[in-house]
Amino acid sequence: MTTPTWLNDAVLYQIYPQSFADSNGDGIGDLRGIAEHLDYLAWLGVTAVWLNPCFVSPMRDAGYDVADYLTIAPRYGDNQNLVELVDQARMRGIRLLLDLVPGHTSDTHPWFVASAHDEGDHRYIWASRGPDGQLPERFVRSPGRRPGGYLPNFFDFQPALNFGYARQKADEPWRQDVAADGPRANRAALRTIMDYWLRLGVSGFRVDMAYSLVKDDPDRTETTRLWRELRAWLDRAHPGAVLLSEWGDPALAVPAGFHADFFLHFGGPNNGRPLRSLWSNGTSTEHPEWATEPYYFDAGGRGHVGTFLAAYHDALAAIGEPGHIVLPTANHDFARLHAGPRTPEQLPPAFAFLLTFPTLPAIYYGDEIGMRHLPGLPDTEGSVMRSGYNRAGARTPMQWDSRPNAGFSPAPATSLYLPIDPDPGRPTVAGQRADQNSLLHTVRDLIALRRAHPELGPGGRLEILSDAYPLAYLRSGRFLVVINPSDRARALPHDRPELAAAAAVKQTGVSVDQATIFAGPFSFGIFRL
Ligand code: NOJ
Ligand code: CA
Repeated sequence: MTTPTWLNDAVLYQIYPQSFADSNGDGIGDLRGIAEHLDYLAWLGVTAVWLNPCFVSPMRDAGYDVADYLTIAPRYGDNQNLVELVDQARMRGIRLLLDLVPGHTSDTHPWFVASAHDEGDHRYIWASRGPDGQLPERFVRSPGRRPGGYLPNFFDFQPALNFGYARQKADEPWRQDVAADGPRANRAALRTIMDYWLRLGVSGFRVDMAYSLVKDDPDRTETTRLWRELRAWLDRAHPGAVLLSEWGDPALAVPAGFHADFFLHFGGPNNGRPLRSLWSNGTSTEHPEWATEPYYFDAGGRGHVGTFLAAYHDALAAIGEPGHIVLPTANHDFARLHAGPRTPEQLPPAFAFLLTFPTLPAIYYGDEIGMRHLPGLPDTEGSVMRSGYNRAGARTPMQWDSRPNAGFSPAPATSLYLPIDPDPGRPTVAGQRADQNSLLHTVRDLIALRRAHPELGPGGRLEILSDAYPLAYLRSGRFLVVINPSDRARALPHDRPELAAAAAVKQTGVSVDQATIFAGPFSFGIFRL
């Protein structure tokens, strides 16, 4: 696996297509809407966009229930619109990544419908009822003529595609070998899907639940083998194609053939604690257990960045040169950066960290203007998970300007995909573009700085000077970065008199003298040595 050079300096931006921009007034975002805002993304400086699934789907899980992998969902446009979007993005230096959902389909996918009627079909995992008439644990009753039931992968309407089991058991005949016909057909199908979209010009995929393919694979040996096989095929057929995984464990995902893996709020080692300890946002109404975790980007200054740093160093040691860790501000599954008790003045230091740390930054749409997480919304297209956590709060429409619906859509407010933040003071792109001191300008400046200086990216060295409040680190010995996400001024003694000569490149209340770094409340500073 070689890593395309563009990825090393990438600034990723995630678009949840339903909520970005509605070009035709049906209340739902679409591909044309995205294309109409490419100039904005280019102005911001992002280099790659990751789109959540935009394929034909009954949308019971917002599109993660694919019914046709090769066709854009009509509500977003058509395949030609995707080609146009790819081309128009590339003209602006922006690459497009699609979301590949390899682990399951919708229960309306023709593959599944056929499988539910044909006992000889093994594209999915089917079990018969036991002598007691019961299905094995977790299996769901067949909707077709086929008796027995199928194994779901996430929601019950998302039947798991059969990639086999790492371990067989004589009394559990549904545990097929990874080399059986069904698993082989499914691996071939993944190649067909990737090949199709890569030929149309997309640069790669974010891969949903990448860890989940081979079942009962505790150390992921067989899942790793599967992805390596696909990577080897890509290296021949589409060598530049990038794969980013939703795995939550870069130490496993990168060796399995992914260029990069996301730190997530859940899953992976320590069940997401490394990211939560950084900036989980205490969305106490919707995810009470997260609210109890102290996190570093907390106004009260009660967190410890050490949990995150340790996970970062562990992952780095395991992935080596070719791989990256993606650090997201948020995503469509968990709370936005501006959520719970967090206030707008806490966001600039968070972005300063995101954009000067040697991980790949991923900005969730709207976080760059500090859009609020909105609790208490209705369950929308499967936004409520089994745990009861409602993801809709992170999925509200992008706030563009002062027009009705914040410029998201010309539709009546009642027919929007999700309501717009009703706060009359809600941030908008237009409002913040007009204000040089806005979060948006700060984020843009930080992106420009990072792109101009590869030392600030994954390639540069990291030397931590302080892992308390403020956080202070050097990048390749050329930049000093100071981050104080807390509401109190902090003084950090240091024994490097040369730091006093550092020139501020961008700072909001940080200064350095011969022996001390001073950091005001909610401040950051980037200095050139
Ligand atoms: C992870 C996706 O991010 C999430 O939105 C989806 O519900 C599940 N995978 C199932 O595909
Ligand atoms: Ca639309």
